[in-house]
Amino acid sequence: MKLGLEDRAVLVTGASKGIGLACARAFAAEGARVVMVSRSRVNLDAALASMPPSAHRPVAVEADLVRADEAKRAVDEATRALGAIDVLVQSAGAAKRYPPDELSAQAWRDAMDAKFFSYIQVADLVVRAMGARGRGAIVNVIGQGGKVASPVHLPGGAANAALMLATTGLAAAYGPKGVRVNAINPGGTLTGRVQEGLAAEARMTGRAPDEILARMQERIPLGRLAAPEEIAAVAVFLASDAASYVSGAIVPMDGASNPVI
Ligand SMILES: NC(=O)c1ccc[n+]([C@@H]2O[C@H](COP(=O)([O-])OP(=O)(O)OC[C@H]3O[C@@H](n4cnc5c(N)ncnc54)[C@H](OP(=O)(O)O)[C@@H]3O)[C@@H](O)[C@H]2O)c1
Repeated sequence: MKLGLEDRAVLVTGASKGIGLACARAFAAEGARVVMVSRSRVNLDAALASMPPSAHRPVAVEADLVRADEAKRAVDEATRALGAIDVLVQSAGAAKRYPPDELSAQAWRDAMDAKFFSYIQVADLVVRAMGARGRGAIVNVIGQGGKVASPVHLPGGAANAALMLATTGLAAAYGPKGVRVNAINPGGTLTGRVQEGLAAEARMTGRAPDEILARMQERIPLGRLAAPEEIAAVAVFLASDAASYVSGAIVPMDGASNPVI
């Protein structure tokens, strides 16, 4: 699919694994110039080795986006590598799942750091630069857990709900400056994160993770979890000019599991 993203400057956070890596690969395949951010050099090197052939060599930046100083350094390094950023895709989440009786106030605070601030600290810098320049698109990979509360995902779900509000609010605030801000809410997507959720539910219920996965898939109207590449395809569309009048949208990608409007 060619959507006019050739040579565009794209910053992808959480790009060493899972959905973020699938996004980095999809933008590179479109001919975009990509900077990939995650905490681990080892993971980033493995991710770089898996990138598709592209006109531009992707650049990797190691940074822990929970830390404001590291988030700023990552944006500065990306801007040095790319020039002005045209597209920001955020997928650097790590909110832990807990059985409800293992929750503590600290767990809720940690989830806001891991999922909310790791996005906001990057978005705050990038959206201002995009606004000053008069163009740009942001796609936040958030999660249906921010809409539909799950007992094993309450702190992460609360962070996701806050990110949805920030997405629609920033879309309204920066629309007049030419910046579009959208989000994708994946449901279950086959990445390492799903294994973590299955393990937490296994601790809570005493059932085997494979059995929980099979039951989970049975309940999804589309009959299976999403592939990371399916989420990436929508991120690429939302970031492209093909979606030039889409802003403030939260796109559910849960296989129709939550039939709410
Ligand atoms: N998979 C699902 O079923 C699902 C469902 C709903 C929502 N989501 C959301 O989608 C996003 C991506 O999920 P995923 O399943 O792709 O996760 P994943 O496979 O665990 O990948 C997460 C990525 O974020 C990076 N990362 C984590 N913490 C970071 C930090 N503090 N600073 C910089 N990079 C960081 C990780 O790299 P390093 O370890 O190298 O730092 C990795 O590249 C998350 O926000 C998640 O909540 C996923």
